[in-house]
Amino acid sequence: MQIDVAVIHGPNLNLLGMREPGVYGSQTLAEIDERIMASARELSLGVTIAQYSGEGEIVDAIHAAAEHARAIVINPAAYTHYSIAVRDAIAAVSIPTIEVHLSNTAAREDFRAVGMTSAVAHGTISGFGGNSYVLALHAVAQLLGR
Ligand code: DQA
Repeated sequence: MQIDVAVIHGPNLNLLGMREPGVYGSQTLAEIDERIMASARELSLGVTIAQYSGEGEIVDAIHAAAEHARAIVINPAAYTHYSIAVRDAIAAVSIPTIEVHLSNTAAREDFRAVGMTSAVAHGTISGFGGNSYVLALHAVAQLLGR
């Protein structure tokens, strides 16, 4: 089945709500997913959402998305900063990829300033908490001409 957007959450995002709430906020991933689904409905975008801890699983999810989706919204989490495999997967597929981060990675530790995957994304939205995903869906809607 063809869908509009595949949303991919990376490692440790399943712990949102209890994970460093001062950095990532108090919303759980399930609550963020509800916001994503509500926003997708408003924008008339069909969406799938999945969370993976493994680098290879994320590579596979990007390949699968290229088969059945028109765009990807991904928070690669820590892989953002060092995964050449995730970067190459994003670069390999022809559909646009929007990278999102809850925190403003540019304002944090130096190692988070390296955006291995950001360099091949269509664009990056960072620092708006769970709303980063909503903003990314708006960007996708524009890219798809909705
Ligand atoms: C994150 C930022 C990354 O640096 C970090 O490793 C994460 C979450 C974010 O959404 O702010 O796990 O991607």
